[in-house]
Amino acid sequence: VTTGSPAAGSDAPIGVFDSGVGGLTVLRALRAELPGESFTYLGDTARLPYGTKSPETVVRYALQAADYLVARGIKALVVACNTASAAALPALRQRFANLPVFGVIEPGARAACAATRSAHIIVLATEGTVRGGAYQTAIRQLLPQAQVDAIACQIFVALAEEGWVEGKAVDAAIARYLEPLNQGGSAPDTLVLGCTHFPVLRERIAAAVGSQIRIIDSAATTAAAVREHLLQVALTRAPKSNSAAPRAGHADTRFLATDGVLRFAAVGARFLGEAIAVSQIELIDL
Ligand code: DGL
Repeated sequence: VTTGSPAAGSDAPIGVFDSGVGGLTVLRALRAELPGESFTYLGDTARLPYGTKSPETVVRYALQAADYLVARGIKALVVACNTASAAALPALRQRFANLPVFGVIEPGARAACAATRSAHIIVLATEGTVRGGAYQTAIRQLLPQAQVDAIACQIFVALAEEGWVEGKAVDAAIARYLEPLNQGGSAPDTLVLGCTHFPVLRERIAAAVGSQIRIIDSAATTAAAVREHLLQVALTRAPKSNSAAPRAGHADTRFLATDGVLRFAAVGARFLGEAIAVSQIELIDL
C-alpha cells in the first residue's frame, strides 16, 4: 500500500475521481481554473452509485481509487464526489499524508454560506451524503444560525447518468423530492447541488424552485481552492506556450473508467461540456 509522499513533481497530473461521470462537472471547472495543468480522471462506473452504499464501502472504494491514481503518479487528489468526500476524506488524508487531498463539501458549504442572506439553505444530495450530515455540519461550522434542509435525491444520479436532464420524468422526480419544501416554514434563499451529478439538472431544478432561490454547486469553489493551494506550495505546472494558453492543458486529460468506456464517452460529454474521444479513455480494474 502506498503511503506518505507523492513522488510526483509539479509536472505530474492532478488526480480527480468520482463514482461515475458526475465529477466531470468538477473537472470542467478545474480545467477552466488551471488551464496549464494535466489531469487524470477516474470514474468508478462499475460500482456506481456510491450514494446508496454504506460509509464503510464508500471508504474502501475511495481508498482503492486513490491508491490507483497515486500509483500512476499524481501531485494532488480531488475527490469530485460529495458522497466520497463526506465518508472518506479523513481516511484519504491519513493514508496519503503528504498528498494534497481536496473534497467538494467544504467548498460547497463555503459558497452556500457566502450566498445566503436568510441563512436558510437547501441541500440536495445523495442518500449517503444526507445521512452522514456532512453538509449540515460544514454549513453550521461557518454559519451557526443556519437552517439546513437536506434532501436525499438519489434518483437524480440515475437520471443524470442516463443523460435524462429534461422532460416529464425529470420534472416529476424533482417535484416529488422538493415536496417537503412546500410545507411552510421560513423561505430558503440558497440551494446547494450537493452531488456532482446534479449540475446537469440545474435548469430544471431552477425552474422548479423559482428565481428567488440561488443555486450553487461546489465545482468553481473547489477549483479555486485547488489553484490557491498549488500556488502556495509551488506545485503549479510551468505554462507550455503562450499561444494556445486557454486550452493548453486539455490535450493532457486522461480518463479512466472501471466499466463502459463507450457509455462514459457518450454521457460524459454532457457533464464535461465537450466531446470525449474514446481513445482518451482507458478501461481499468481497481
Ligand atoms: N457524484 C457523487 C456525489 O457527488 C455520487 C453519485 C453516486 O454515485 O451516488 O455524491
